[in-house]
Amino acid sequence: MSRDAVAFAVIGGTGLYRLAGLASVDTVEADTAYGAPSGPIRIGTLHGRRVAFLARHGEGHALPPHKVNYRANLRALHDLGARRVLALNTVGGIRSDCGPRVLAVPDQIIDYTWGRIGTYCEEAGSPVVHAEFAEPYGAALRADLIRAARASATPLVETACYGATQGPRLETMAEIRRMRQDGCDLVGMTGMPEAALARELDLDYACLAIVANWAAGCDPAGADAVPITLAEVLGNVEAASARLPALLEALLASD
Ligand code: HPA
Repeated sequence: MSRDAVAFAVIGGTGLYRLAGLASVDTVEADTAYGAPSGPIRIGTLHGRRVAFLARHGEGHALPPHKVNYRANLRALHDLGARRVLALNTVGGIRSDCGPRVLAVPDQIIDYTWGRIGTYCEEAGSPVVHAEFAEPYGAALRADLIRAARASATPLVETACYGATQGPRLETMAEIRRMRQDGCDLVGMTGMPEAALARELDLDYACLAIVANWAAGCDPAGADAVPITLAEVLGNVEAASARLPALLEALLASD
């Protein structure tokens, strides 16, 4: 594949509807056997590489997590040539070192979602695949992300367990207590089935989680904690995202 082909893709989550620095952008309105992706795919140049960007919820955030067509999104990026996919996921923080504005690269997942089509084996006649998923994220991309963070002096939590909830509502404090007991460090609504589908497509897929808020009941302020607002979520995502360009530059330089 030529150096100009799309090999790397980024999926943006809540508050991340464009990729800063992406230049000479072409737009692809893709279609797949699984339907249309969440919106246009923007393909451009970033640090000398052809990079595709897709806003998971649509560029106007019209799609709630359970309505995202995860299969179409990944299939479309795969069909464009992407073999490495960096998923940006906005999350709540459960573990004490995963507070607002922290960036984390989870290494494990617990899936609490339901009713989402989580496989490409759904249609009659499609081959049945039991994808290996003990390590749910791509080891190579995770390692490159961690290296890139160190090289760019970007603070990064290097291991965490992502608990994927159904949403679109936030969790109760009891649900988060249970998730903490289960071993979850982060909570988000879009990590699954995306990671499993990526594995079925044999993509080198990793998640860069951006902590927008303390999960319910986890704020160290305790009883003085104020309820989570959308403004707080978006403000924290914006602040944390300021560190993405340097991290991506270091990542793509080593790619
Ligand atoms: N819970 C679930 N998903 C989220 C949260 C949360 O607290 N914050 C951002 N995405």
